[in-house]
Amino acid sequence: MASTSLSVHQEAIRSTVVKKVVMALTGLVLIAFLLMHMFGNLKIFIGQSEYNHYAHWLKGDLLYPILPQGWFIWIFRLVLLTCLVLHIYCMAVLWAASLHGRGARYVRTRRKEQTLSARFMRWLGILVGTLLLLHLLMFTVGWVTTGYTFNAEDPYSMFVGAFSQWWVVLIYAIFVGAVCMHVRHGFWSAFTTLGANVGTGARNVLNALAYFVAALLFVGFILPPVAVLIGMVS
Ligand code: HEM
Repeated sequence: MASTSLSVHQEAIRSTVVKKVVMALTGLVLIAFLLMHMFGNLKIFIGQSEYNHYAHWLKGDLLYPILPQGWFIWIFRLVLLTCLVLHIYCMAVLWAASLHGRGARYVRTRRKEQTLSARFMRWLGILVGTLLLLHLLMFTVGWVTTGYTFNAEDPYSMFVGAFSQWWVVLIYAIFVGAVCMHVRHGFWSAFTTLGANVGTGARNVLNALAYFVAALLFVGFILPPVAVLIGMVS
């Protein structure tokens, strides 16, 4: 009887750890995407034709002729979507288990010692998901447009049209702020789950790196919309 309950407990720990590892790996893939997207957006400073050329290359010619034209973007979207779904699924299962007092909580930090990002991690994730949906409706699908006409052939004009309005920039500042808080704690958490947090030195490096990546993303993402708003890019 004792050995049965022990194996049930071990099973719970194993399944919690597997979900944490899946969350860590998918989260890191999503952070890599964010860095790529942020650097791509900075091309807006070079000019309309360069920015549009980059967007067309990404959607049409990347990896061509290794892959048929236009395939890369769909594989890329499939990978991103799979990571996002797995990330959310594992979060939901772990959250439900913690609400019901089940599962193995192998790392616990007292509430008072938690950073703001850590404490509101799940709520930040929900806010990011909602604003991401709005973002895709604006720039990928075109169901929501404000200040521009949807034209996938000319993302530069959509960019400038959208961010010429202060309240769109404000919504994106909240979006990117929430993403960066989520990333700050997520980066730290992911590497801790993967075993990198092995001592005070490693912890300090990890902490510094997490803040650096989050700050880099925030500044890199918010600069182009602000530049449009103040008329530096038009
Ligand atoms: C100020 C911040 C951001 C700006 C100005 C921005 C701008 C854009 C633009 C213009 C596009 C369409 C590009 C095109 O059609 O060629 C796009 C696509 C996209 N963005 Fe953002 N973005 C921002 C932040 C984010 C963030 C934080 C995320 C994720 C959390 C994100 C995820 C995506 C995704 C998934 C796509 C669709 C890519 C595809 O078509 O497959 N973006 N973004």
